[in-house]
Order: sequence, then C-alpha cells, then structure tokens
Amino acid sequence: VRTLAGGDVLGVHASASQGCGWYDTREDGDKVVVVEANGTAGPFRFADPETMMVDIAGGIAAAWNPPDRVRFNDLSRNPVAHGRLSLYSPALAVGVAGSSEGLQRGAHRESNRNKMASSDVSAAIAATEKLLESLKAYDGTPSSHITLLNQTDRVRAELEQPYDVITRFYEHLTVAGALNMLLRIGALHKLPTDGTSIKAVDLAAAVNIDVTAIHRAMRVILVQGIATETGPDEYTHNQLSLALLPENAGSFFLLCMDLSKAMGMLPDYFKTHAPQDIYDLTKSPFVYSVGKEGRSYYEVLNDDVEQRNLWNVALQSAEKNMPVRGMFPFESLKEQVEKEPERAFVVDIGGGRGQALLAIQEDCPNGFGGKLILQDLPIVIESLKPEEIPNIEATVHDLFTPQPVKNAHVYFYRRLLHDFYNPVCIEILKQTVSAMGPDSRLIVCDMLVPSRVTVGVPMQLYWLDMSLMMISGKEKTIEEFHEIFDAAGLELVKVYPSNVGETVMLETRLKRTE
Ligand SMILES: C[S@@+](CC[C@H](N)C(=O)[O-])C[C@H]1O[C@@H](n2cnc3c(N)ncnc32)[C@H](O)[C@@H]1O
Repeated sequence: VRTLAGGDVLGVHASASQGCGWYDTREDGDKVVVVEANGTAGPFRFADPETMMVDIAGGIAAAWNPPDRVRFNDLSRNPVAHGRLSLYSPALAVGVAGSSEGLQRGAHRESNRNKMASSDVSAAIAATEKLLESLKAYDGTPSSHITLLNQTDRVRAELEQPYDVITRFYEHLTVAGALNMLLRIGALHKLPTDGTSIKAVDLAAAVNIDVTAIHRAMRVILVQGIATETGPDEYTHNQLSLALLPENAGSFFLLCMDLSKAMGMLPDYFKTHAPQDIYDLTKSPFVYSVGKEGRSYYEVLNDDVEQRNLWNVALQSAEKNMPVRGMFPFESLKEQVEKEPERAFVVDIGGGRGQALLAIQEDCPNGFGGKLILQDLPIVIESLKPEEIPNIEATVHDLFTPQPVKNAHVYFYRRLLHDFYNPVCIEILKQTVSAMGPDSRLIVCDMLVPSRVTVGVPMQLYWLDMSLMMISGKEKTIEEFHEIFDAAGLELVKVYPSNVGETVMLETRLKRTE
C-alpha cells in the first residue's frame, strides 16, 4: 500500500467500532499523518470497494460513506494538511466492505498478507535487483562491502511489517545478551579449539552457573551460526565464535555492550539529571551507568588495564569501516617533508595504538624521513611493543596540556574530537594551535552529520553518535566544525570526503583572515 506521495503506509489498525490509519510519507520521514474515523461510525462502506480515498486538503473523506461520520484527527495541525494524500487499499476495502466486523483481527492479518502478496513484494524485488547488481560489481573494498550489507537490509525492510521490525530489534538484543553473558563469564573461552567438544553440563560447572542458562544462551548463539553443536547440548568452536572472542573482534562487541547498557539507562538518567549534564564529562550516561559519576569515561576505562587493552584492540579492529587512507593525500607532502626533515611530519594526538600512522606509512614509506609521532595516555603508550609500531615515536602526552612538538607539518586528530562536546574541542585544539607554524596543517578526521537523515542509509554514523552521547561526545555538522575552528584560531582549508560512509578529513591552518 502506498500513498500518492510515494510513501509507504506504516501500518493500519482497525477494530470493530473504529477505523484508524497511520500513514507515513517516507520521502519526508518526519511526516506521520494520523487519520482517525469516528469511533462509533461503523459499519463502514466505501463508494468504491476497491479504493479508499482520503482527501486531506479538502478535509472530506471523498470515498467514505456516509462522509459526515468521518472526522480527521486535528487536521489543522496535520503536517501534510495542505497536500493531497490518497490511500489505495483494495485489501483493506475488501476486509471492511459491508460490515465493521471485517475489521476484526483476522481480517487485519489477512489484509497484511494480501499486502505482502502485491505491491510490497515488487518493492522487495526491485531492492533485490539492486542488490544483485551490486553483488556482481563487488570489488572487495570496504565501501562496496558496506553497500552490499546495506542493500541486503533494504530487501528485508521492504518485506517487514511493524511486528517484524520489533522482533528484529529483540532478536538482536537477545543475541547480544547471550553473547555478552557467555563472553563475560568466560564460557566461550572454554569451548575447545582442537576439534573436540564440551558438554553443556561441563561448561556450566567450569563457569559455575546453572546448566539451563548455558543451554539457553548457547542455543541463541548457535542459531546465529556462532559455535557449532556437535551433539545434543555439546559444543565446539567454529570460525565465527573464534572471531568473536575478545582478543579478536569481540573486544569491539564488549565495548558496544558497555555503551548499550548506558543507553538502556537513559530514561532514568534523564529523570535524574539536568539537561546540560549530558555534556559534562564527569556526569555522562556511561559513568552514571557504572555508578562512577565524578570521573570521565577515559578515567573509568583506565582503571582496568586488561579491559583498556581490549578497548584499544577494539578500536584497531574497527579500522575497516573507517579507513585512514583515501582522504587527505599525505604523500603529497613528500617534497616539503624531505626539504625540512627536522620538522615532525605527522603528530597523531590521541592516536591509540598507532593505527593511523601505520596506515599513513603505506602511502608515505618511512614518513619520508620526517618523524611520525604518536601521542596518547600512559596506559596506551605503555602497552605498545616497539615492533608493533615501526618508524613511530610513541610518547605520553595529555591533550589538555600544551603541545610539546612545535611547528610540525601535520597535527592529526582522528576519531578524537568526537569524544568531546564542542567547548571541550575548542580547549583541546587551542593546545596545539599554540605550537603550529605558519604552514602547519591541523587535520581532523571524523564523521560529518548531514543536515537531514536519509531513510535506509548505513547506520554507522548514527549508532556511533548515539554511543558517543553516552560518554559526552558528539559527531558534528560542518557548521559546528566551522564554529569550533574559528574559536580555536583556525580556518578550514578543505574537506576531503572518503568513499566509506560519512567520514571526512578537514584540513585547517592558522587563521589568516578575520
Ligand atoms: C576514540 S580513540 C581514537 C584513537 C585513534 N586516534 C583512532 O582513530 O583509532 C581516542 C584516543 O584518545 C586518547 N585520549 C583520551 N583522552 C586523552 C588525553 N587526555 N590525552 C591524550 N590522549 C587521550 C584515548 O586513550 C584514545 O586512544
């Protein structure tokens, strides 16, 4: 069922004495129209049983019979009150023609089935054809990988009804809950890797929990293809379960779970906090969720060296979706760096385990003889072995203190400013601005929030931004960056987009114009 505007009907609800329709014009995702029939008007009849037309502009229900029994819900404030919206619903019309009894639950389900069998399937076919085209053109790059996953989701979205959307959410939550439990209690680590298997009862004994909890959590992950059931309630590792261990990609999963716990507590957080607390590093939803208000996210994170090391690995494993290469052309500075090798080439502030500097070296072998300096907190720097960071000078530096490396060619902030709210970013940048020379570049690599949301685009920017809210961070718009740079004494020279999602590099220099 589609509206004339081309949007899909979000859902239709009706009962014996009442007909209600929720219409969502998807092209303008924020517009939801609620049209409500008089609660006691039934039985409803349609002038044309194949078509139910609702003329919003005229305020009359053209095809309802009798029209005076129909009223519109607050039409004057309706966001599309000036447009014309027609709903073609043969299935619904068949369901209700002649008697309001037709609007009972069974008929409603029937109408949904009919809906599936008609136009919505053709939309799914169109989405599948797009997917097939992309599959044939797949070149193995991160961007085509993300496109494929997204297009696969679009096929499902064309088939989903509201109930399916909810069960999908809950399925994900349940898998995440089961995996989180099995990882955190060490159960997944107990699965053998040598081809043998372990019985649920032995696994339960090894981690000291009730065996039925193991059965049920294992079933949830097994059905997702995580680990293998070798016999009834007997398991062994497979490739996916190994990949999801914390020392591999599982570290990123656990980091997400910590943040999602804070998300789950947001209603309580907002009830107990002032609106501006969300921007206070020591009152973030994350520190609230772990009962450690008064300290920042990183301070809490750094309490546990082992956890912090896993967190660092998590960030490295997230490289694929946010590559360093392909935006600002560091290699274009070759001549300049070779001419002035005494100046550091790149200072990567809050650079983690050196992942960006390692990637930059792929285009700039050995840093063209200029220093590649990694700066981070002691807990990160001390975790690094020299062989892990060839040609990189790793140093401890607190980014809230003045930058000790003067007049570098490039100062680099990657996935760093998004950890902080705008005024804090200004404070951070000023520490480096004071060290910059006239032709030093300061490059920020983060995601840019577009001015509008496009339905169905990859979610990465939005889940990341919501996660950052948990730690008092924020992805920003280009306008916000302009304000931050201006206040820090910088001006934007150029925006370098990436071909993966919304990530950009913003090249700035000391302000030359007022
Ligand atoms: C989100 S991570 C980004 C790491 C890396 N730039 C990347 O793109 O993968 C933020 C980094 O900033 C570091 N950091 C946080 N607070 C800091 C501080 N006060 N001084 C220096 N580094 C800090 C963290 O330890 C962490 O490695």
